[in-house]
Amino acid sequence: MDWDATYAIGQAAVDADHQRLFQLFNLFSAAIAAGETRESVNRFLRDLADYCDYHFRREEGLMRATGYPDAAKHTAMHDGFAAFVRKQSTTGDHDLEEVQFLQNYVEMWLCGHILVMDKWFGEWLDGRAGKNAAAEPIS
Ligand SMILES: [Fe+2]
Ligand SMILES: [Fe+2]
Repeated sequence: MDWDATYAIGQAAVDADHQRLFQLFNLFSAAIAAGETRESVNRFLRDLADYCDYHFRREEGLMRATGYPDAAKHTAMHDGFAAFVRKQSTTGDHDLEEVQFLQNYVEMWLCGHILVMDKWFGEWLDGRAGKNAAAEPIS
């Protein structure tokens, strides 16, 4: 997964977290490609679940602080993904087919979520900033 500007939502801390998520995923893919399957999978899933907890709390905190109207729906999506990853990380042995499924699923979920849900939030924040700026008195 290559991070580029199309994934940017315009919030530096959130964008940095997303880059870290891509980095975690790429380390995992490299390990799989090198044939280090079982241990790498479990370690990756644990690291991913931990990092998602950290990152999702950050995003949700920003949503609460700014009164984002779609926060509940967005949070539910975070919760579903985090629970799935956490469960997979404790399931133990994954065969090659499962590993490939997990790899594709995680990649698709992260890309889709960032490009749609997180982008909506970023655009809403931009609009809100624009409105606030416009509401300021002209001096
Ligand atoms: Fe995110
Ligand atoms: Fe999100």
